[in-house]
Amino acid sequence: MSSTTKIDTTLVTAGRQKHYTQGSINSVIQRASSLIFDTVADKERAEINCTNRVLFYGRRGTLTHFALQEAMTELEGGAGCVLYPCGAAAISNTILAFVNAFDHVLMSSAVYEPTQDFCTKILSKLNVSTTFFDHCIGGSELNKFIQSNTRVIFLESPASITMEVQNIRDIVTAIRNYSPNIVIILDNTWSAGILFHALEHGIDISIQSGTKYLIGHSDGMIGTAVANKRCYSQLCEHSYLMGQIVDADTAYLASRGLRTLGTRLRQHEESALKIAEWLSKQSKVARVNHPALSQSKGHNFWKRDFNGSSGLFSFILHEKLSPERLANYLDNFIYFKMAYSWGGYESLILAKQPEELARIRILGNVDFKGTLIRLHIGLEHVEDLLKDLKAGFDRLNYK
Ligand SMILES: Cc1ncc(COP(=O)(O)O)c(C=O)c1O
Repeated sequence: MSSTTKIDTTLVTAGRQKHYTQGSINSVIQRASSLIFDTVADKERAEINCTNRVLFYGRRGTLTHFALQEAMTELEGGAGCVLYPCGAAAISNTILAFVNAFDHVLMSSAVYEPTQDFCTKILSKLNVSTTFFDHCIGGSELNKFIQSNTRVIFLESPASITMEVQNIRDIVTAIRNYSPNIVIILDNTWSAGILFHALEHGIDISIQSGTKYLIGHSDGMIGTAVANKRCYSQLCEHSYLMGQIVDADTAYLASRGLRTLGTRLRQHEESALKIAEWLSKQSKVARVNHPALSQSKGHNFWKRDFNGSSGLFSFILHEKLSPERLANYLDNFIYFKMAYSWGGYESLILAKQPEELARIRILGNVDFKGTLIRLHIGLEHVEDLLKDLKAGFDRLNYK
C-alpha cells in the first residue's frame, strides 16, 4: 500500500490478498489444529517459516489469523502483530515477554484496573516490582522513577475512566534518553489504533482490546499487539510458548470489523462530541472528561497527537448520588444499557463513586467528589440518546 493511501481505504483493503480470500471478498475462515504437509520438504519449509505467516500448526495461526495480522500490521505500522484471546491476555503476555525476575516495571496509575492487578498480583510473584506513577506527569518528573532494572514502561492514554491524555512525546523522550532498551508499551484501545499512531510516536508495542472497536459488535473477544522490529520476534515467540491464540472465527470477526471501523468511529466521534458538549452545559454536571473538550485534562496533548476521538468518555456530577438515587438514575434509561466493556454499536453507561475509583487507583489520586458517569456513545441517533440523558437528569430532580 502506498504511503499516501488514506486510512479508510487501508481499512477496507488490508489483509485481503487473494491468498487469504480465495476468490471471496472476505478472508476465509480456516479452522485448524493440524495442517497437512504434502512432502518432507514442505514440512521443513513450514518449520523454518512458521513465524512468517506460513501454515505450520494451528497454534501458530491459520490463513484467517494471518489475514488479520497483516491488516493490523499495515494499519499500525509495525513489524508484526500477535493475537490473543482477549485484551487482558495481550497486556499480561506482552509485559511478561520482556521482564526477568527482579526487573522493574513502570506503570501509569490510571491504567485499566486488571492491568494494575496483573503487576501487583502476578508479576510480584516473580519478584518483578512495579512503580505506579501519576498518569499526568511528564518526562522530567518521570525520570526519578526509572531504575537501573527498569525493563518495561506501560502507558494507557486516555486514562481508564477519567480520560486524561498523557504527554506521550515527552515520556518517550525521557525513557529513550535514559535507555534505548526499555520497552514502551501502550494500551491504545481507545484510539482503535488509528486515531493515535503509537509506533510513529516512539511506542514499541501498541496493544488493543480488539473486543472493543475492532470487533465492534460486542459479540467476541480478542486482543492485538502490534510490535516494532526490535520487539516483534521476542513477543511472538513468548506468546507462542504461553499458548496464546484466538479461534479463527473470532479472528474473522475482527477482520470483518475493520471494514466498517472508519465509518463507525466517525459516527461514534460525532455523536459523542455532541453529547459531551451538551453535558458540559448542564447545571448538574461539574466536569466532562472528553479529550476533545478543552476543559479535559491533557486536551493539548490530544490535539497535538491524535487524529480524532472515539465514543468513550465520562462526566462528573456535582452531587454524590446516594445508592437509591443512583439506582433510580441508572435503572431507567431506554438506550444506555448498563454493561462492562465498550466499543460496540450500542450505547452503554456505568457509574463510579469517587471512593470506588480511589480503591482501584493504587496512588488513590481522585480529584472529584461527585458521582462519575462513564458513557459509551453508540450508533443510535444522537437525538434519541440526548432525550434519554435529559430524562435521566429529570429523574435526579426528585429527592
Ligand atoms: C482500556 C482497556 N484495555 C483492556 C481491556 C481488556 O480487554 P478484554 O476485555 O478484551 O480482555 C479493557 C476492557 O474493558 C479496556 O477497557
